[in-house]
Amino acid sequence: MVAENISILILAAGKGTRMKSSLPKPLHAVCGLPIIAHILRAAQGLNPVRIGVVIGHGSEKVKETILENLSAWGISAPVDFFVQTDLSGSASAVKAALPFLQKNKSVMVLNGDTPLLKTQTLAAMAQSFDKEQAGALVLGVSVPDPSGYGRIVREENGQFKAIVEDADADAPTKQIKEINSGMYVFDSAALQIALTQLTPQGPKHEFYLTDTLALIKASGKPAVVFNSTDFEQALGVNSRVQLAQAAEIMRARINTAHMENGVTLINPQDTYIDADVTIGADTIIATGCYLLGKTKIGANCTLEGNVYITDSQIADNVTLKMGTYIEESEVAETCQIGPYAHLRPKSVLKKGAKVGNFSETKKAVIGEGSKVNHLSYIGDTQMGAGVNVGAGTITCNYDGKNKHQTTIGDHVFIGSNVNFVAPVVVHDNAKIGAGSTITHEVPAESLAIARSRQVVLEKKGIKKEHD
Ligand code: UD1
Ligand code: CA
Repeated sequence: MVAENISILILAAGKGTRMKSSLPKPLHAVCGLPIIAHILRAAQGLNPVRIGVVIGHGSEKVKETILENLSAWGISAPVDFFVQTDLSGSASAVKAALPFLQKNKSVMVLNGDTPLLKTQTLAAMAQSFDKEQAGALVLGVSVPDPSGYGRIVREENGQFKAIVEDADADAPTKQIKEINSGMYVFDSAALQIALTQLTPQGPKHEFYLTDTLALIKASGKPAVVFNSTDFEQALGVNSRVQLAQAAEIMRARINTAHMENGVTLINPQDTYIDADVTIGADTIIATGCYLLGKTKIGANCTLEGNVYITDSQIADNVTLKMGTYIEESEVAETCQIGPYAHLRPKSVLKKGAKVGNFSETKKAVIGEGSKVNHLSYIGDTQMGAGVNVGAGTITCNYDGKNKHQTTIGDHVFIGSNVNFVAPVVVHDNAKIGAGSTITHEVPAESLAIARSRQVVLEKKGIKKEHD
């Protein structure tokens, strides 16, 4: 099998009982992507002719998620689904995909719960399978703690003998540190014969895919172990503890790649960057930041501590001060946000805009160079350039039933503590007096004051009014 015409079958039907979850195991996220997405990507890296996925437990949800995200995950190979109804072990999963085996002379089979696997290892396995003219090949790695994994048992001469599952291993076998990673290449014909020869094994009377290797060997075709020293990529996620271990390893890989691309991470152990986030060079990221989903950060930005960003685009030379929280928003170059500001979905900050201390925006365009620096709520708003928003200004966008729009022109000066009762329009260069509650259109160049006059009652009851 040359890498160009490889076919890959992923087993993802199992119950995942040890996760104790209502979410099917393949959909649990590691660094922002489901486990199955990581496996599909590693598989896609080989440019396979086709990929098969065996689904069972939660099959509809797993299938739907995969189909919805194929292009977002960069999977261009055709994907076929096979439903395993009996869930009686990994060999039964492969049996459920017999038409897939029949279509391909040789097949790579991958467990659906090893998110750390690498394309380069899979490619090396495929090459070795060809070179050895093997009937079966398994990726074996030596791990510090082999408990839970199938052990690779070897003949005295070092050749592969069998895989013995943890549940069935005697004390000396349990001592073996070389484990089955759950990644294989098979000669399809040999595998199909072996699948008919299996008997149920272990406490759960399962059909083990791992038993097919000894059967293939007995049939006269070589069954070989391909070794890699990079044992981390074999980590199987069976429990929440292993899910956290996988995430920690992947996080370190992601952070290392960003640092190698010229990003400074002040404390990489406490920086959480999802798999698909991009970051420009010379950006500096302080401790406790979360950059999630499809977030893109430009070059030369500064992120102070505890900045949280999901699915947003941040351009170059932006400063995000401590505690900034940004969701599904766009921030143009040289903007400054925070400390402690909240950009809710569909906030758009144009070049050089500022949203500062304890201010919140939502579905709002803040024009070029405009400032919302203190204690404001700006929602459902279209704001022009060069606007100064005074401290405590609120757009009253909700009348209890519907949301309404506030429109503010260019170079408007808004005093402190102004309420805009939407829908309302303020035209270019207007000024709004502090403390005003604006309910009507404000013409260009005008001054609007909408508050009652100050009354001072002095001791003798003499009333003084001020302008
Ligand atoms: C399996 C291997 C073990 C190996 C380990 C590596 C077997 C019998 N054992 O053990 O040797 O060291 O992986 O991580 O294969 N699945 C189905 N249908 C089923 C049962 C399982 O599709 O009926 C899928 C699961 O979704 C999973 C994979 O097969 O992706 C492995 O199943 P799992 O139960 O996780 O096997 P392990 O006990 O981890
Ligand atoms: Ca497993």
